[in-house]
Amino acid sequence: NKTGFIFDLDGVIVDTAKYHYLAWKKLADELGVEFTEEDNERFKGVSRKRCLEILLEMGHIDATQQQIDAWLFEKNEDYLSYIDRMDESEILPDVPKVLDYLKRKKIPMALGSASKNAEPILQKVSLLSYFDTIVDGNLVTRAKPDPEVFLIAGKNLGVELENCVVFEDALAGIEAANTAGMTSIGIGDPAVLLQAKYNFTDFTQIDFEFLDSLIDR
Ligand code: G6P
Ligand code: MG
Repeated sequence: NKTGFIFDLDGVIVDTAKYHYLAWKKLADELGVEFTEEDNERFKGVSRKRCLEILLEMGHIDATQQQIDAWLFEKNEDYLSYIDRMDESEILPDVPKVLDYLKRKKIPMALGSASKNAEPILQKVSLLSYFDTIVDGNLVTRAKPDPEVFLIAGKNLGVELENCVVFEDALAGIEAANTAGMTSIGIGDPAVLLQAKYNFTDFTQIDFEFLDSLIDR
């Protein structure tokens, strides 16, 4: 029974959640919508388009398609200005340790992210080569909590759904993994990620013994 591991990107592998927040915050300020870090939890794991829809709902703003396209473009340009400056120092603690360990054990690994910027980011932090398949926002049509992204990742890995393990920092992502019938591991605040099967504040809390226990089920 082969086990496969699926990693979300933003907030799990790299510390980009803060840049998404800053870029949305800037747009929210321009639109006169109050936007806090708590509101931002709802944006994690959610596609760019859906995030803007939520923001506009929050501000009770009606917009034309032209405005929507312009705001999506503006948010992404702003986000990319942070990404451009990114390097390996923004890999989250002990992520390489876990990736190396699984790689050495020849465990199939996938990236499962809503982001359309996933590949350039992985390239920037030199982690692209770890993944056997990249399933990102360019491939997926239904945003988390829909399980589509993880279903495709599991299929590409050739691993049964119940043998897939998903690392996620977003509520929507945990829900997607659970719906897919996969083992969900929350990375972040356990008070937020209540539905996760296991929860760790970050990868420094995850040891090889735990990883082995997931592999030899
Ligand atoms: C990830 C982030 C979300 C973001 C989404 C789309 O899932 O957690 O906050 O909205 O990707 O990212 P993109 O880079 O395509 O705007
Ligand atoms: Mg995330």
